[in-house]
Amino acid sequence: MSGFDSRILDVINKLQDLVYNTIGNDSLDLPQISVIGSQSSGKSSVLENVVGKDFLPRGTGIVTRRPLILQLVNISEDSPLIFKNTGDVSKNSLASINNPNATNNINNINMANSMTLDQHLRQYASNQTLNNNPNINNNNNNQPLVNKFTLPNEWGEFLHLPGKRFYNFEDIKLEIENETSRIAGKNKGINRIPINLKIYSPNVLNLTLVDLPGITKVPIGDQPTDIEKQIRNLILEYISKPNSIILAVSPANVDLVNSEALKLARQVDPLGKRTIGVLSKLDLMDHGTNALDILSGRVYPLKLGFIGVVNRSQQDIMQNKSLEDSLRDEDDFFLSHPVYKNIHNKCGTKFLSKTLNHILMNHIRERLPDIKAKLNTLMGQTEQELLSYGDSNLYSKENRENLILSLMTKFATSFISSIDGNNTFDIS
Ligand code: GDP
Ligand code: NA
Ligand code: MG
Repeated sequence: MSGFDSRILDVINKLQDLVYNTIGNDSLDLPQISVIGSQSSGKSSVLENVVGKDFLPRGTGIVTRRPLILQLVNISEDSPLIFKNTGDVSKNSLASINNPNATNNINNINMANSMTLDQHLRQYASNQTLNNNPNINNNNNNQPLVNKFTLPNEWGEFLHLPGKRFYNFEDIKLEIENETSRIAGKNKGINRIPINLKIYSPNVLNLTLVDLPGITKVPIGDQPTDIEKQIRNLILEYISKPNSIILAVSPANVDLVNSEALKLARQVDPLGKRTIGVLSKLDLMDHGTNALDILSGRVYPLKLGFIGVVNRSQQDIMQNKSLEDSLRDEDDFFLSHPVYKNIHNKCGTKFLSKTLNHILMNHIRERLPDIKAKLNTLMGQTEQELLSYGDSNLYSKENRENLILSLMTKFATSFISSIDGNNTFDIS
């Protein structure tokens, strides 16, 4: 039961491409997802699970000591998945390696190693425009820089190490640790300067997620006396943006009234419209107790609800338990639990990923009218511009307008019909 229609996400990627190539900026304005909660509540574990990769330092005590801004960058036109855990990716990864259309993107990223995402996308957009214009003879992109069949199709790159690709995700973890110590010291200090990491992959949607230091009360090590206030302000900075989704992680083995995550989320999202409650450590609750009341929304009101998860334990981390095994065991936990088995299809990491996908799709659906309006304006401007040059460039004028209009109509229509014709995303 995957319940996940990869065609819809394919359409999202294409729509995003279309918007970059025409309007030229990120008009889809996808929400940024921030993970908050008290120290060791399981934030890094949750984030890693939804991305579907082992690459974050996790553990007891204060591990995440600088914000980590994680940008997922899609590098193919044939990559329908946002989060890996919602479906079968291997097939799609292979398809995109073999997809000749993907080469163009990979080449552009090759050349754009030291650029920001925005610059990269602008360059990509302008290359596309050149390529689509038959009046400009442009051979630059016809020559692959690297044979596409030998290219690893997933890697990470840090803003502080431009051009250096990390193909091994264990090395990414080490670099996060080193870079954390470099700025925040080795003795438990925290620092507000973020670490920027991009993951290039055919299996992601262009999307930003943020891992944040946890809230602590008592200063230790190099931490200043006002550590709690500093961390709160840091977190608020990330979650205040109205267009952001808050994953508020609370450990199930601590009373929910003490949840730091919910207290902070409520400050910026008092109606609970953009907060997802994540209840971690369900496996660590006292025997004989359960979280059914919380998970069914009877304890704390959140429009997007509470989702229970079981991440890897400290022992699992020390024994290098794989993500696959962890997800399988998580499924087993819910299926075999006397209480949770009745709601197992609304529990766990996979359901969390599905919920995030659902939110993103609704967001895009809301954005479509505005994108359409922007494209109309753009077409008007293009027409004016062309008129001012006289009518010699007839082909370009018609070509551009028709191209934009037909692409927009095509994607918008297929997008809307995809979501309208699909009820498997009902999470209410
Ligand atoms: P963070 O400090 O909030 O980022 O939390 P981490 O993800 O680093 O996890 C803190 C510790 O809690 C680690 O030792 C994890 O193994 C453990 N942990 C996190 N989630 C769970 C869970 O659902 N069950 C169990 N048993 N341990 C967990
Ligand atoms: Na921790
Ligand atoms: Mg952490």
